Amino acid sequence: YEVEYHDSIDSTNRRGRELAGDGREDIVVLADEQTGGRGRLKREWSSPSGGIWLSLLLRPTMPTTHAPLVTMAAAVATAEAVASTGVEPEIKWPNDVLVDGKKVSGILTEMEGEADRISWLVVGIGINANVDIESLPEDRATSLRELCGDVDRREVVQTLLESMSELVADRDRILSAWRARSGTLGRRVSVETPNGEIVGEAVDVESPGALLVDTADGRERVTVGDCEHLR
Ligand code: BTN
Repeated sequence: YEVEYHDSIDSTNRRGRELAGDGREDIVVLADEQTGGRGRLKREWSSPSGGIWLSLLLRPTMPTTHAPLVTMAAAVATAEAVASTGVEPEIKWPNDVLVDGKKVSGILTEMEGEADRISWLVVGIGINANVDIESLPEDRATSLRELCGDVDRREVVQTLLESMSELVADRDRILSAWRARSGTLGRRVSVETPNGEIVGEAVDVESPGALLVDTADGRERVTVGDCEHLR
């Protein structure tokens, strides 16, 4: 992928969308700092200098319903990049990367397209790399600096992008790679969905990214929500 680097930018996702409008593809927007980082569910994403803040603009040939698969590929690639620094990551459904139960990375995918065809997809990945945990808002957030000391961000980004391009080229591998890195499967979870809370054992993921949860009332198939690991 071609890389566009910024010392400081409002949001690499915002810039990725702009490049999509210019007709570009296969480009990575990378920044040392974001001044208006965006998170899932309209949240802010704090992005101090020293982190890894990047967005990947892709035009995959697939229906929009399959986009979650690309986001899951990004979570696997991120987990692999984090693992390359020597810490033990796990993926929390759908695409947070945790170490010791604390969030070290989050992913926000934005896209445009018709039902049967994605026009463009911007996968935004934030990794709390060489940043102090005091500069992060959540008490359940951590950083690579906190976990293992400062890392070579170039190497981490390279590992991430290599893994991502392999997975996107071989989509059949994505779910099995996700399962292998998942900390959610086999766990008791509570998922807050738009239709209420679902509590039970997470048993599997199903294409293109739904979580199957065995509850007291039977099996639920969850496609959106915030998941919490209970034990
Ligand atoms: C989440 O809420 O967990 C997702 C956070 C995604 C943050 C990344 S940082 C790079 C990219 N640019 C943004 O504005 N957000 C994403």
